[in-house]
Amino acid sequence: MTGRLHYGTTAKLLHWVIVALLAVQYPIGWLMPDVHRGQAPGAAMTFHISLGIVILALIVLRFIWRLTHPVAPESSLPAWQRLSSEAVHWMLYVLVLATTISGWLFASFRGWTVSFFYLMPLPMLASDNAAAGQAIDGLHQAAEWSLLVLICLHVATALVHLLIYRDRVMQRMLPG
Ligand code: HEM
Ligand code: HEM
Repeated sequence: MTGRLHYGTTAKLLHWVIVALLAVQYPIGWLMPDVHRGQAPGAAMTFHISLGIVILALIVLRFIWRLTHPVAPESSLPAWQRLSSEAVHWMLYVLVLATTISGWLFASFRGWTVSFFYLMPLPMLASDNAAAGQAIDGLHQAAEWSLLVLICLHVATALVHLLIYRDRVMQRMLPG
């Protein structure tokens, strides 16, 4: 793939803002109380959903940015590393999309009324539907765990480049 050789400020900013938001989103998801059908979502769930919508908006923006501003993989890497890193990067985009959209669908099928940070009502993707909710139950968890596994792999390889290969791959995503 052709394209520029370095990530620009926008790509780097979006990368690290999304990392920070995910670092907040996972603990909220694990710590927030369960909200059942027919209950009103409390503050933690409202915050989880609102932040999730922000992550969805940013990943869509970032994906469009990536398509319109392609960056070539580090040319000094062997072909298998260029290919596998690109594959992992595309999968990260897909899994963030899958996690956010499955969460939004799940909340929609529950029939909840959710506000976006208590500022305005959040549009729902579908109306209350117990059968559909049952059918996709677990999808959000599956997506969120697959994403976490892939993030661990991604971070581990970044550390291998930084500490063992001591090449410039980590620098590509750092400021400057
Ligand atoms: C990438 C962004 C997101 C991450 C990492 C994430 C992560 C999580 C986690 C860790 C849980 C706890 C479930 C468990 O015990 O494993 C959870 C539950 C939940 N999330 Fe998210 N979430 C994200 C986005 C969203 C969005 C955008 C929505 C809705 C618009 C949403 C709605 C929900 C709901 C309704 C639950 C509770 C349902 C259940 O227990 O399965 N999430 N999420
Ligand atoms: C501490 C955590 C992280 C570190 C150290 C890190 C490091 C890096 C580095 C060095 C690159 C550039 C790789 C290259 O040029 O070949 C990169 C790219 C990328 N990272 Fe991360 N990352 C982290 C967390 C995350 C997370 C949580 C996500 C989840 C969305 C993510 C998604 C991506 C994507 C999609 C790319 C490819 C960018 C593109 O070409 O579009 N990263 N990361």
